[in-house]
Amino acid sequence: MDHGPRGGSERARSLPSGAGGCLPADVEEVLVGREALARRVAELGAEIGHAYAGRPLHLIGVLKGAVIFMADLARVLPLADVTFDYLAISSYGRSTETSGVVRFVKDLDEPVAGRDVLLVEDIVDTGLTLAYLREQIGRRGPASLAVAVMLDKPERRAVPVTVEYVGFRIPDRFAVGYGLDFAGRYRHLPYVGALRR
Ligand code: IMP
Ligand code: MG
Repeated sequence: MDHGPRGGSERARSLPSGAGGCLPADVEEVLVGREALARRVAELGAEIGHAYAGRPLHLIGVLKGAVIFMADLARVLPLADVTFDYLAISSYGRSTETSGVVRFVKDLDEPVAGRDVLLVEDIVDTGLTLAYLREQIGRRGPASLAVAVMLDKPERRAVPVTVEYVGFRIPDRFAVGYGLDFAGRYRHLPYVGALRR
């Protein structure tokens, strides 16, 4: 087996900050840098910690995009009792658009009835995915249900959806990094970048 550095389609440019990570050729610009992400996650963690003080909080991450945000958010929560679950959904349609027709490809492992649930998602765009998930999880009788997203593209909203915690509002650009992918790539980037148009 070959473990060499071959296979990369390009040589990565370094980030100007020198903070690690790289700027692939497909990524036109940084929309939210890693320091800004970390600061905002810390603020959200404090806010969420305050809201759920003294109560157990059950986090549900939407695979795969929410994994990095949830990992960072969970570790700044000033709460003693935090549990994790994940779900995965698949939306029919093209890769950079959501059709709104969504199905579970991985259901939750644990029941949510009677629990305080925080649904953690990478981005809210048209709102169709979160509207569907709020409805589906809400039906299972949680004590409470709130949503945290790292990114919001308000210009693209097609259905109204309540999002209690938002990291950053971004313009209508296709975002990658910090969990978000384009065709499976760039989730690992430590910043949020805009895909080249
Ligand atoms: P919505 O249903 O249109 O709100 O879209 C939500 C889902 O579409 C997100 O969970 C992402 O998986 C994907 N998505 C929407 N916008 C972007 C983007 O800018 N970059 C990467 N994925 C996106
Ligand atoms: Mg997603």
